[in-house]
Amino acid sequence: MSKHFRKWARRQPTTAYRVYDRDIPDVPIIVEVFGDHAIVWMKNDEEEQEPQLDSTEVIATTAAALELAKENIHFKVRSRMPGAMQYQKLGRSGDFLIAAEGELKFHINPYDYLDTGLFLDHRPLRQKIASGACGTGGKFLNLFCYTGSFSVAAAAAGFSCTSIDMSATYLNWATENFALNELSAAGHQFVREDILTYIKKMVGSKKEQYDLIFLDPPSFSNSSKMTTTLDVLRDHAWLIDDCMQLMKTGGVLLFSTNKRRFKLNEQLQAKYQIKDITRETIPQDFSDKKIHQCWEIRKIGS
Ligand SMILES: C[S@@+](CC[C@H](N)C(=O)[O-])C[C@H]1O[C@@H](n2cnc3c(N)ncnc32)[C@H](O)[C@@H]1O
Repeated sequence: MSKHFRKWARRQPTTAYRVYDRDIPDVPIIVEVFGDHAIVWMKNDEEEQEPQLDSTEVIATTAAALELAKENIHFKVRSRMPGAMQYQKLGRSGDFLIAAEGELKFHINPYDYLDTGLFLDHRPLRQKIASGACGTGGKFLNLFCYTGSFSVAAAAAGFSCTSIDMSATYLNWATENFALNELSAAGHQFVREDILTYIKKMVGSKKEQYDLIFLDPPSFSNSSKMTTTLDVLRDHAWLIDDCMQLMKTGGVLLFSTNKRRFKLNEQLQAKYQIKDITRETIPQDFSDKKIHQCWEIRKIGS
């Protein structure tokens, strides 16, 4: 599992990468390394009827293959669950780890949640933003910001960031990620709101206009904090329209989704200049080239 990627990883300025991506059908797990820890995810989905592996065995094999301590292998079962449950705490607390991605650093929690706080499939896009290739020094809006990793990247490129999420825990985590990167929270905003209603207010008031917007909604969300559900397939067209209303002339919307078999609403093609940038945004360590789809969207003529 590890040799090729261990070698590859040593040449990369990152301590967090995917080393195994369901490569063998009988071993349908995902393994990501975070320094001297590794997370193993196994799916438990009755509909897909995948082989269920024994966690003790998987932990022992992974520890041996990666030459890591068994207690640093974190085994997680991903079952089909409705929206918000995916982001709930699983229990047990431990210290945060720190992952480096080039110049950027992120707090990783391998213990408490199904996800770690950093989605590695978006490393190339974070790096692109941090490098200044999407502009520098303007205003950045990060919708569904989670732990603010994209805001950290944008702030590193000199953007003033507004990060919105409905979870206080994740917004707090985002501010900790800013501090970890020695980025002062001053000049940046962290807003706890249900985006589905809040974005309407933003469009109505048009108080702020942005140079760069990152829109990366969950595929589905149905928290009690929301007045309606979010379904990315159903809702992406109006979300994109609203984002484009908040855009300065010449600004860029980066829209991304992890929803499988997602199709961009065809009417959007007539309204905006749209470029599919998925290929350049999938990292080399992911053999799942359909992990996400991503588009760069501009106003026509800008
Ligand atoms: C898949 S994560 C987004 C990933 C993030 N863009 C990143 O790259 O790290 C989903 C996030 O959406 C937030 N969320 C879900 N529904 C929301 C809503 N209606 N309003 C605001 N935040 C929401 C969750 O709290 C969670 O932090």
